[in-house]
Amino acid sequence: MNLTKAMEERHSVRQYQNKPLEKDAILTLQEEIEACNKKSGLHIQLVMNEPKAFDSFMAHYGKFSGVTNYIAMIGKKSDNLDETCGYYGERLVLLAQQLGLNTCWVAMSYSKIKTAFVVDKGEKLCIVIALGYGKTQGIPHKSKSFEEVAKSDAQMPDWFKNGVKAALLAPTAMNQQKFVFTLQGNQVSAKAGMGFYTKLDLGIVKYHFEVGAAGEPFEWVS
Ligand SMILES: Cc1cc2nc3c(=O)[nH]c(=O)nc-3n(C[C@H](O)[C@H](O)[C@H](O)COP(=O)(O)O)c2cc1C
Repeated sequence: MNLTKAMEERHSVRQYQNKPLEKDAILTLQEEIEACNKKSGLHIQLVMNEPKAFDSFMAHYGKFSGVTNYIAMIGKKSDNLDETCGYYGERLVLLAQQLGLNTCWVAMSYSKIKTAFVVDKGEKLCIVIALGYGKTQGIPHKSKSFEEVAKSDAQMPDWFKNGVKAALLAPTAMNQQKFVFTLQGNQVSAKAGMGFYTKLDLGIVKYHFEVGAAGEPFEWVS
């Protein structure tokens, strides 16, 4: 499965089968986590066979069941930690989809089990991503229109259109899709709107945009 297909087929899944992660999938994920940590300076960790985080009233209220594996997105406290976690976390989400796994970003409905991962001095746990073999594949989310999130004074080239379409497939907190992409020449700015977790969402949609724009040498500007 290529990344485009992974973006199309990925939907949040909250109910999981009682089935351990396959060995090959674990190895591939661990390798990618290492690569992401090296590139970003994050301290991402794969937590496996840990049922407590999703065993609370909140988790069940949030309709989660069978979650025993998750990715803990941890990094040094800084202004851009949320966006960086969004970007690299979504890289892992799409890889998981390619490996036949399902995922769900989770900001709220879980408990922090301190013994399950390491948070070094100056770091914080930003968010987790539930991971496993879903009972279903989830369903496509309602989406804003292309025109609501894409701006340009000139004609839009295909790579920009494809980037924005890919961003509209991305998960965002409460499906808020509070982002706008603006094209100027070969420069793209991606701006987050006001609200909860919009910086995290921004990192996620920027990764989707890059995948959709398929190697076009555009430049991100702020
Ligand atoms: C940053 C972020 C935080 C999220 N937090 C939660 C959460 O706490 N509980 C939950 O059930 N879903 C959570 N989600 C999943 C979103 O509700 C979901 O991505 C959105 O409704 C779009 O649906 P889709 O992922 O199926 O495309 C979160 C998603 C993101 C990106």
